[in-house]
Amino acid sequence: MLALGGALGILFTISGCSAEVVQRGEQGKSVVQPMETPQPTPEPTDWVGGKHIDTVVEQPEGPLSPSGKSYSYYDTVKPTYINGVLLVNKDYALPRDYGNGENEVAYQALTKLQQGAWQAGYSMPLMSGFRSFETQEELYNDYVAVDGVEKADTYSAWPGHSEHQTGLAFDVGWVDLQFANTGAGQWLARHAHEYGFIIRYPKDKESVTGYQYEPWHIRYLGVDLATKVYESGLCLEEYLGVA
Ligand code: DAL
Ligand code: ZN
Repeated sequence: MLALGGALGILFTISGCSAEVVQRGEQGKSVVQPMETPQPTPEPTDWVGGKHIDTVVEQPEGPLSPSGKSYSYYDTVKPTYINGVLLVNKDYALPRDYGNGENEVAYQALTKLQQGAWQAGYSMPLMSGFRSFETQEELYNDYVAVDGVEKADTYSAWPGHSEHQTGLAFDVGWVDLQFANTGAGQWLARHAHEYGFIIRYPKDKESVTGYQYEPWHIRYLGVDLATKVYESGLCLEEYLGVA
């Protein structure tokens, strides 16, 4: 977060400087005092602090988000539905103010899944449910501070691009790759669809989903669709034909 913030800070400092230089030139022109010898109008300089910069600087509309989209993009972007299914991934985003908690139907299905797991002898605690844009931003930036952007991008969504913001996604069991090798993890992989969920980021689909295998992250689709996706062996992007 700090590294990214620092880089953005530098960008803005540079832009701010050049704008000031132009403004100073214009201000100098308007307050120039009468002198015996007419002085030429000061030209805006393209040298600041001993460094050459572009003289034409467009005012940025806001800091760039890690997705490469402008910050304001997330004020107007619309949720994307493919065949009635809300799709959120690295390509499709949610507006900043989207969502305010878990979807009720999805949460009830989660409760049933937890009961089913319990009856089978497994504990399936909820580790993470709804996350707002701002929460995801903090989380992502914290991961970047620890692991750097490239690695963080393999396991953490950019703000506005997390399924957790839909209220339809949950992290359950144990947020660790080893979860796949536990009884609970294997039960979840075999039975999640019976409760309306899919394992959203399957193994061997990293190049399609953009994320590493997450045996703990489930996405609610309803029993019919989740069962179809499960039986197809495809990830959601492939099933929806947007891979
Ligand atoms: N870990 C998933 C990709 C997320 O951050 O939403
Ligand atoms: Zn998750």
